[in-house]
Amino acid sequence: TRVAVLISGRGSNMEALIEAARDPAFPAEIVLVLSNKPDAAGLQTARDAGIAALAIDHRPYRGDREAHERAIDAALSEAGIECVCLAGYMRLLTPFLTGRWAGRMLNIHPSLLPAYPGLHTHERVLKAGEKQHGCTVHLVTEVMDEGPILGQAAVPVLDGDTPDTLAARVLAEEHRLYPAMLARHARGERSPLILS
Ligand code: GRF
Repeated sequence: TRVAVLISGRGSNMEALIEAARDPAFPAEIVLVLSNKPDAAGLQTARDAGIAALAIDHRPYRGDREAHERAIDAALSEAGIECVCLAGYMRLLTPFLTGRWAGRMLNIHPSLLPAYPGLHTHERVLKAGEKQHGCTVHLVTEVMDEGPILGQAAVPVLDGDTPDTLAARVLAEEHRLYPAMLARHARGERSPLILS
């Protein structure tokens, strides 16, 4: 399966996907990285890994989200992409792109959805006194952070946790979960899996 990863920043989840796909037995290959931010650090990381990396800046489209998405979609089609992984991609998608890629677009979110959709999940989980937190890989639909869940990984919230210590614990699980879920999806498996 030919996969594109969409990023907006650091791209640590993208790195985890690239690393996993090095294994010849992995059922997907990361063939393209796109970012809406020309200065996204992940673009260089991808290039260093020998993967085509392209910035399609959203600013020239001045809020015409769909026009920006059409440029993204053209690049995806050009590269013969079959599946898209959003990884720290911080743009809201319109029904244009979510419709075009329905069932073939994955996202990773740092909470145990449906709890804590949206931003600043670690702060909110701590504020709420939750004892458990985690991350979710789901299929992208037109409603943000909804869509069928492919898998989740849970972590404990520990006494003394700060948003940063909690985020780091969740991120480590993200780097495990995302490659595993992409592989299952690429193999055509469709039942959700709960990793410990
Ligand atoms: C991560 O917390 C991820 O859950 C969210 O974006 C954050 C940054 O991820 N999607 P990355 O290091 O850019 O992959």
